[in-house]
Amino acid sequence: MSYNLLKGKKGIIFGALDEKSIAWKTAIRCHEEGAQLLLTNAPVAMRMGEINKLAEAVNAPVIGCDVSSNEDVTNLMTKAMEHFGGGVDFILHSIGMSINVRKGITYTENNYDFTHKGLDISALSLHRVLQSAMKLDAINEWGSVVALTYIAAQRVFPDYNDMADNKAMLESIARNFGYNYGVKKHVRINTISQSPTRTTAGSGVKGFDGFINYAEKMSPLGNASAEDCANYCVMMFSDMTRMVTMQNLFHDGGFSFTGVTKEVIDQMEK
Ligand SMILES: NC(=O)c1ccc[n+]([C@@H]2O[C@H](COP(=O)([O-])OP(=O)(O)OC[C@H]3O[C@@H](n4cnc5c(N)ncnc54)[C@H](O)[C@@H]3O)[C@@H](O)[C@H]2O)c1
Repeated sequence: MSYNLLKGKKGIIFGALDEKSIAWKTAIRCHEEGAQLLLTNAPVAMRMGEINKLAEAVNAPVIGCDVSSNEDVTNLMTKAMEHFGGGVDFILHSIGMSINVRKGITYTENNYDFTHKGLDISALSLHRVLQSAMKLDAINEWGSVVALTYIAAQRVFPDYNDMADNKAMLESIARNFGYNYGVKKHVRINTISQSPTRTTAGSGVKGFDGFINYAEKMSPLGNASAEDCANYCVMMFSDMTRMVTMQNLFHDGGFSFTGVTKEVIDQMEK
């Protein structure tokens, strides 16, 4: 069902890798709600070719951008402004990567070259995108920026590894840039802290099956799906949430405020 919540709005979606990606589902929902889109991903991810299917479905151009490169980000922002004939109204940052996680290197043994790379891609990239947007004046008044995060920024989930540190920094950048962009141009910046979700990035975390089942049992509403997350993003990009900024918004079926559930206690008593 469409409510035309994003009619006339223009947005950039980072991070749609394949049909499972949260960014993919969000692009589809934004399109259904009347937005015009531009899609972007790392050139290496674009070589998979999947993103072209999405581009066709949502009638959007695709521009490659490695978010760890200042040059790529400036080029993307410049081209987006050329394409739309002005600024954008919303941006989705749906990007995460840890080489330490990928290589199965435990937190205490982290390789710092890998740590730097992961931090740059997963967290600093939000700063880079926002700095470039501010310099080029690429986000319209009352624009909305959302970055996706995970509760490991606040609590320990051992196998989430250095992504926990990356997410803590991502959330801090959203707050601090949110202050500055709010004062300057009423641009609002928030993070959405999503339930574990079966995607390429999500499934890369060790013990993911146990993890997602545990979260399901610990959430009064159950885990939020990627589709639910896409709906929440639409709401955050719409004019219905104009005064929400600098927040970390839990979108997790109640997991974040649940101490324990009856289901988990019953299981412990077995
Ligand atoms: N899946 C989960 O359980 C879960 C839970 C909470 C938050 N998140 C967050 O949601 C976001 C989206 O992840 P997803 O689960 O949809 O997985 P995904 O693997 O589909 O998306 C991750 C994206 O990051 C992109 N990326 C990696 N390096 C990049 C670079 N250098 N430049 C540009 N893009 C790059 C990938 O190409 C990919 O499209 C991430 O921030 C992730 O941490 C995921």
